[in-house]
This record gives sequence, C-alpha cells and structure tokens, in this order.
Amino acid sequence: LSAVPPSAAGGPFTLEAEFQRDLDPRKVNLIIGAYRDDWARPWQLRAVAEAKKQLKVESSFHEYLPLQGSSEFIKSAKRLIFGDNIVNEMSESIASIQTVSGTGANSLIAKFLDKHTRCNNIWLPDPTWVNHKDIWEVNAPRILMRCYPYYSDSIHALDFDQMLHILTNEAQQGDAILLHACAHNPTGQDPTEEQWNKIARLCQAKKLFVIFDSAYQGFASGDLDRDAWAVRHFTSFSDLEIAVCQSFSKNLGLYGERVGALHVVMTRSPHTTAIHVQDRLVDLHRAFVSMAPLFGCRVANHIFQNQELQDMWHADLTTMSGRISSMRNALYSELLRLRTPGDWAHAKNQVGMFSYTGLTKEEVEVLRTKYHIYMLPSGRASVCGLTNANVKYVAQAIHNVVTG
Ligand code: LMR
Repeated sequence: LSAVPPSAAGGPFTLEAEFQRDLDPRKVNLIIGAYRDDWARPWQLRAVAEAKKQLKVESSFHEYLPLQGSSEFIKSAKRLIFGDNIVNEMSESIASIQTVSGTGANSLIAKFLDKHTRCNNIWLPDPTWVNHKDIWEVNAPRILMRCYPYYSDSIHALDFDQMLHILTNEAQQGDAILLHACAHNPTGQDPTEEQWNKIARLCQAKKLFVIFDSAYQGFASGDLDRDAWAVRHFTSFSDLEIAVCQSFSKNLGLYGERVGALHVVMTRSPHTTAIHVQDRLVDLHRAFVSMAPLFGCRVANHIFQNQELQDMWHADLTTMSGRISSMRNALYSELLRLRTPGDWAHAKNQVGMFSYTGLTKEEVEVLRTKYHIYMLPSGRASVCGLTNANVKYVAQAIHNVVTG
C-alpha cells in the first residue's frame, strides 16, 4: 500500500476546506454550487421544512427501499422532467431508477453503457462539471472520453459552430453525448431553442445516445417546466435514445441527502420495451450501492404529493433564482460603475448558479491570496456566495486584479 501515489485531485471540496481554515473576516466563498441566503448562510426551503414537520420524522421507520427505489417518488420525478403528456403517452418506453443524486445517475449510466452497449466514445462538453471526467474514467474504463467545444472564452458565449463542426465530423454512430439540460455548469450558457433543435437533429442523424445531466431544473428560468424544454424536445424524436440524470440537490436544497433518479427513454420507432434496460440498471445498482437512500426521497415525495407544498416549493425556487439574478445584476452594475476593463455583460446574462467570469487562473489566485475571495481556478464563481454586504468588495477586488 505504501506504493499508492498521492491524489492529484483538488476540486471544489478541497478548496472549500481551505476556505473554512481561512480566518480573514473579509473572506468570500464563491466555490460550491449550493444556495446561500443574503447572509451567506445555507437556506432550508420552506417546503422542505414544512414537509419534515408533516412527516413527523422523529417517529418514522428506516426500512430498505425496493432496489429500484420508491415507485411513488420515481413516478413524480418522471413527471417533473418529462411532463404529463410524455409520461402518459410513453410510460412503458421509459426505464427509471432512484439514484444517489446526480452523481449516482451519471455513474450508473456510464457503467451501463460500458457493460451493456457497444458505445465507444462519450462526448463531453468543454468545459463541463469537474466531476464528469472522473465519473466516466472510474465507471466506464472501456469507453474513450472525447470533448466537444462548447464555450468560447473570447466572446463569452456558446461556440456553437465549432461544436456542430466537431460532432458532425468526428462523432461515430453509437457514441454517447453528454448535454446539460439547463443552466450549464460551469458556463451558465445554454443553447437557444433553435440551437437545441439543431443538436437534436445531429444526434438523430448520427444515432448518438443522448445523456442529459439535469442538476439545475428551476434555476435557469425559475420555472420547472421551462427548464425541462430541451429534454422534452429531444424526447419528441421517436428514434432517439435518451438518458436523463436528475438531481434534486439544488432545486430542493437537499444537497447532503442525495436525492435523484436516472431515466432511460427507449425508441418508439422502432418500438422497444424498457423492461430489460430497467432490470439491468437495477442489477448494476445493486452491485454498488444496493439502493438509493430513503430520507431525502421521503421529503421530496411528500412535497410532490401535496399541492400546497408544491406551491410553496415553486415560491422557494422563485426566491432562490430571484436572489441569484439580483446578485448578478449588482455585480455587473458595480463593475460598470468602476469602469472595469472588458465587457462584463455575461455576468448578468448567464443563467443558473454560476458566473463563468473569464478571469484567468492567475487572477483567481490573486483574488484568493490577496482578497480571500475563493472561486474555482477556471474562473467559475458561484453567484450564490454573493450578498448585498460583499458584492461591492468582490467587484472592487475583481477590478483591482484586472487592472493589475
Ligand atoms: C458544483 O459544481 O459546485 C456542485 O455541483 C457541487 C459538486 O458536486 O461539484
């Protein structure tokens, strides 16, 4: 064992530990995508607090869930992402399993494709969520990881032509492609509906297996249905095979409870049944976690089953997305007021929890060491960490590092 080399992994959680050790009173945490209130404190959704109260959690049992998870939870999770029409029409064509949040769903689909299909390449966006590469490396050793251009640093926008160009020329029939359903992490930049449609047609023409990572439903627009548009649009192509990795960490604020689901949509032309895929997913899941955890799913399910709590949840989503968007505007206005060199419109126009600031690794380093402002080395800042009390300080520090 002494030959085991040290880990090179850094990532958001290592930086978070460093932030916790930092004793400077000015410190600002823009690291992890977890919602914070205007005092930079974790925030429990009102719907979640109320659900826990109604569930009388102190007297509940802690039994095993069935291997595929709670059937009630899965049914509701499916309706949330696909909508009533799709679920009513094609329920038999969708295999679903409760997972250990989004990471569990991503890991399970990677394992599944590695073991049960002839998929040779997984196409990941460049850039993407820092964990995607590790997930595919660990769970799908047979499948080669490839990257498609997604974002152009120079124009702070989607690199759409390049993305289509590379995928058209290099992706092979049967490859898998990973897409972020909304509020792309880390860039906060989503395709337009017209662009989504072009991507769907390309996937159809190339017969690509489409994997949607849906971790931010409700955070791009504040509306759950609108944020599911891309998933629902792709599902309308009856010959596309699609997986959706669904996380409720962010939109229910159940980060540590690991609530999520994986759905696999089969083709309807030709008609294929989901039953074998469903069974294989359950078998694979059994071998590495048995089944997903119960507590968070019970809370989520209670909200999904109760109209009053659902209304409360929607209001909570508006509260969270509204505060994030007001912080985006505040940061942008400050940078404008300071006449910070560069065009900062992307800071207010990007969606979801993150701002892909465009700051260099070196500038991020100075922000951390000199100003005690922490964000990922890629320049990704979690806007949730901005508050009315610190946004001016952050803008001034950015101004200082940019002007050197
Ligand atoms: C993030 O990107 O900050 C979050 O999704 C947390 C994580 O697991 O990396």
